[in-house]
Amino acid sequence: MTGTTGSRTPRRLGAAPARSELDPAERYSADELAHVQLERLRRTLRHAYDNVEHYRSRFDEAGLRPEDCKSLDDLARLPFTTKHDLRDNYPFGMFAVPMSQVRRVHASSGTTGRPTVVGYTDDDLDVWSDVVARTIRAAGGRPGDKVHVAYGYGLFTGGLGAHYGAERLGCTVIPASGGMTARQVQIIQDFRPEIIMVTPSYMLTLIDEFERQGIDPRTTSLRTGIFGAEPWTEQMRLEIEERLDIDAVDIYGLSEVMGPGVAGECVETKDGLHVWEDHFYPEVIDPFTGEVLPDGEEGELVFTSLTKQALPIIRYRTRDLARLLPGTARPMRRMTKVTGRSDDMIILRGVNVYPTQIEEIVLRTSGMSPHFQLVLSKHERMDHMTVRVEARPDCPGPRRVSAADELVRAIKDAVGVSADVAVVDPDTLERSVGKLQRIVDTRGR
Ligand code: DLL
Repeated sequence: MTGTTGSRTPRRLGAAPARSELDPAERYSADELAHVQLERLRRTLRHAYDNVEHYRSRFDEAGLRPEDCKSLDDLARLPFTTKHDLRDNYPFGMFAVPMSQVRRVHASSGTTGRPTVVGYTDDDLDVWSDVVARTIRAAGGRPGDKVHVAYGYGLFTGGLGAHYGAERLGCTVIPASGGMTARQVQIIQDFRPEIIMVTPSYMLTLIDEFERQGIDPRTTSLRTGIFGAEPWTEQMRLEIEERLDIDAVDIYGLSEVMGPGVAGECVETKDGLHVWEDHFYPEVIDPFTGEVLPDGEEGELVFTSLTKQALPIIRYRTRDLARLLPGTARPMRRMTKVTGRSDDMIILRGVNVYPTQIEEIVLRTSGMSPHFQLVLSKHERMDHMTVRVEARPDCPGPRRVSAADELVRAIKDAVGVSADVAVVDPDTLERSVGKLQRIVDTRGR
């Protein structure tokens, strides 16, 4: 096979020894890292060119050959890959190895049309477990910890990705998956996990359920939460840390690039997510011109896989907005928390609005809970947004009225748009069991 892009020896999943030490790569100097990246990049490009028709024709159209990439900066000359490319080659057309070597597939749901399908060889699964193990360790997890995985299991990468990473680190996995909220609370009470891995919005649902059952969420065995799969803000971190008395850290990833574990946050700094750059090469581009932006500037994240075999991915446009920053707790670069997806961007009378901006404001307003929706409608051909937000249970009636006024003003000041605010009773908005859909768009109805 021409397909081997890593120099790793395959090992059986779960058979690796538990490790509490950092991976050698986590200590690479800038030079060592760049050297490994370039070598892996060149192998990836050759592998993709030789084995994936889509990449071969894209490179040929651009008049480029894999060997033209002589430095990491040359990557910028290569064409982007998008979700459309994966959809056009549905289901397996972008796989670079024979199906007999594809050990697992996952798919991302997508709200419309065909899902995007991704595949993994044994070595890919091995790398994936390693990077998730790294992420859990960075979050403070250690061999012997019990990890409650409440990301959904199935075609979604969250559950199984977290699962094998936790096993790789030497933890005990509680594969709860999403849903059956009352039972999750019982399991947490009885099995006493130290770590929970779940979307931040489902964590809020679980916190409410603890309270409903008369249990103070601050008294659970949980010490650390590793939250991702959807945007969440610093304000939400404070909310969750306060209500659960835990450390809340971020994990980022996407199926097309691997799944969870592309980047993870260190508990000692909580200052953004270290991108595991020895496997995933990040760029930030201007989403309109496609031009690569210098580190520190906000734009769209683009990733190139450096070791993947089944689905090498070159310059994948994530649609996620963030900035790249220098390393701190680890030498590898950090990405800031994702501000939002361009898909979730609301354009209101010419102003771009992200749900995370509203989240920050809602959570800073006393008496307001983290449960809110953004309802979009049309009034006389003009787009209109109503923020429906639940009051906290102890928020008195008069405060609800003044809080609504405060929110209207804060949104106008901070975001620059006029929105209506409807403060609703506690427990009236739909709860998340996985990825939360904040936007309710009634404009087409
Ligand atoms: O959500 C993988 C994942 C699972 C990551 C569990 C973390 C934890 P997809 O379903 O393909 O994969 O969705 C990927 O989710 O492009 C982002 O828009 C969003 N996303 C993932 N992690 C974060 C995060 C998984 N930490 C899409 N912050 C990505 C903000 C995130 N958005």
